[in-house]
Amino acid sequence: MDAYLFEWGNLLLRWLHVITAIAWIGTSFHFVLTDDRLYRPTDRDQLDRGVDGESWAVHGGGFYHFNKYRVAPKTLPAHLHWSYWEAYSTWLSGFALLTVLYFFNASSFLVDPRVHAWSSAAAIAGALAYLVVGWIVYDGICRLVGRDAAGNVGGDRKVGVLVFLYVCVAAWIACHLFAGRAAFLLTGAMLATMMSANVAMVIIPGQRKVVAALRAGETPDPNHGRRGKQRSVHNTYVTLPVIVAMLSNHYGWLTQVRWNWLALILLMGAGAVIRLFFVLRHKGPSRWELLPIPLVLIAVTAWLARPAPAVEPAALAPPTFAQVQDIVATRCVVCHNAQVANKNVRLDSAEAIVSHARDIEQQAVILKIMPMNNATGITDAERATLGRWVASGGSR
Ligand code: HEC
Repeated sequence: MDAYLFEWGNLLLRWLHVITAIAWIGTSFHFVLTDDRLYRPTDRDQLDRGVDGESWAVHGGGFYHFNKYRVAPKTLPAHLHWSYWEAYSTWLSGFALLTVLYFFNASSFLVDPRVHAWSSAAAIAGALAYLVVGWIVYDGICRLVGRDAAGNVGGDRKVGVLVFLYVCVAAWIACHLFAGRAAFLLTGAMLATMMSANVAMVIIPGQRKVVAALRAGETPDPNHGRRGKQRSVHNTYVTLPVIVAMLSNHYGWLTQVRWNWLALILLMGAGAVIRLFFVLRHKGPSRWELLPIPLVLIAVTAWLARPAPAVEPAALAPPTFAQVQDIVATRCVVCHNAQVANKNVRLDSAEAIVSHARDIEQQAVILKIMPMNNATGITDAERATLGRWVASGGSR
């Protein structure tokens, strides 16, 4: 029953995380699009009111007219919508998932002794440090390098290059400390932490200062707006890399390959270029010439993670059930028995093995997620044997 309730908690938390993430990224994408589609108004009235850009849109049965004020309007409107809870709740629900899935089961999810042999406690501390240090380094780069000679916010290109290099180094470090699946997830979580902290520590505090200055009848410092814009541009390019890092960790054939850190960097790079394609498309004609870049990056990743040539020809006769039972007994049963039944899956009887034939194929032959971190050292030949057994009907 406990395991069943735990599974429900897991499902609901995951759902909540995706709901909040959609709300956040949806709003964020919408504002990026609106910002990219701004035209300088021709109307004198608007210019006099301080409107710097306008755009028109038709949606849901009506016409919308967006006006963007440079720095701020002269008087503060009565109703002002703020966007920040989407970002905070995405981070909080993500962190809760990370805790429940990875920290509560650190020995099987976070630690892979073949990658780095350390205790669960040390690995959890390492994972937390990885998230915090990621933010400190990123924020430091933006503050130290992200300004021009006059001290104003700028230097976007230099900041972008340094942040990119830092993310590459961080992905390499994660893949050399944590189990492959955790390394992918943590790299995504580090980037997502940067995104949320950008909202919590930079964008919203800056907007609050602008609002406070307006209320006090003072002229707000334009650097708050510039800094907010710089961070929100970073957030937009980081969105798709985060999503691919969070999704790809479910594929053992990818997260456990030798060059997994490079595979992760290439996929995240593909995500950033795809986002760039859309940002540029908002501003002008489609830049189709960019699209081969993510395709090549994905193709190189596919090559890096290519399966080893089949050890035995597929045409070989199907194995006997005794052979299958033997493999499952040595490679799976330690974690799937009466005492420990991960995900409620028991593999300690002939009936159980037969009833889970498809799951065994999915987890151990196709996705290669099982055995978890290959803790029991299953060989490719044994995986192939399990595969042939399922292909031949998966019966006794
Ligand atoms: C070191 C422990 C360990 C070993 C060995 C192991 N598993 Fe698992 N297994 C787990 C854990 C932990 C989970 C839960 C994974 C999760 O929640 O994503 C799991 C989940 C599963 C699931 C359910 C997956 C799902 O998402 O529904 C199946 C099926 C499975 N294992 C099959 C196998 C098979 C087949 C083997 C042997 C080839 C095996 N396991 C060996 C730890 C192990």
